[in-house]
Amino acid sequence: METRSSDLTGQVILVTGAAKRVGRAIALELARRGARVALHYHSSEAEARATAAECGVAELFCANLESVPEIVRMFDEVGARCGRLDGLVNNAARFTGIDPLEITEADWDFIHSVNLKAVFFCAQQAARLMRRTGGGRIVNISSLGGLRPWPKHAHYCASKAGILMLTRALAVAWAPGIAVNAVAPGVIPFEDIDAQGLRLIGRTPAGRGGTPAEVAEAVLYFLQASKFVTGQTLSVDGGLSLR
Ligand SMILES: NC(=O)c1ccc[n+]([C@@H]2O[C@H](COP(=O)([O-])OP(=O)(O)OC[C@H]3O[C@@H](n4cnc5c(N)ncnc54)[C@H](OP(=O)(O)O)[C@@H]3O)[C@@H](O)[C@H]2O)c1
Repeated sequence: METRSSDLTGQVILVTGAAKRVGRAIALELARRGARVALHYHSSEAEARATAAECGVAELFCANLESVPEIVRMFDEVGARCGRLDGLVNNAARFTGIDPLEITEADWDFIHSVNLKAVFFCAQQAARLMRRTGGGRIVNISSLGGLRPWPKHAHYCASKAGILMLTRALAVAWAPGIAVNAVAPGVIPFEDIDAQGLRLIGRTPAGRGGTPAEVAEAVLYFLQASKFVTGQTLSVDGGLSLR
């Protein structure tokens, strides 16, 4: 039988895009549970340093995830500085809304390079590190937009739907040592919420948007669950995907 613990003490868990917002909440929750957080950021250095200080025990890693060589370098650094990797949370992402008739190749690549390609290569590099110490757990952050079609966000929806199939395929590829699961948040409002976000909150059965802490709770579940739970998607959307 695999070993499970009710907390994450001593586990090294990398969270991408963890300087602020949802990624920050995930990093703080993992730190509260005893994990040694490997905190990735790209442009938000000051916020990343502040979040790392709040975590207490956290190592900082900077990388532009658009670049596969940068991803490889970052995981080499994680291996060298942390000695092991037990968990990866693929949280970093981009979001744009553009009429599909107007989408350019650059618009498409802007989203897919981070939202899908980087998720795959981070998972690949993480799995190679995890295998050295007997396995681990990967949690990919998808979106309600990966389950439901949003006409002005077709490119974003495709990237987030891609994460869901990637999750299932990698779960099969890497079982039983590495569990791979996904969390699909609904609307998690911040100050930049747009008209569509407000409309979606209005249609949410729970009657409100979600909180970063609620997404972190779902991530925590997969990081502590039996590896018998793999390839699954947990929606955290107040019931909106049921409409
Ligand atoms: N907020 C929502 O309503 C909502 C809804 C559904 C799904 N989600 C998903 O939940 C996750 C977190 O959401 P969020 O709103 O907190 O995300 P966010 O603030 O839009 O992005 C998170 C981080 O991604 C990093 N990132 C973007 N491009 C990058 C690149 N080229 N290289 C490295 N890092 C890059 C940024 O790091 P730096 O700032 O350091 O550059 C950013 O802080 C995302 O996967 C998102 O798609 C969010």
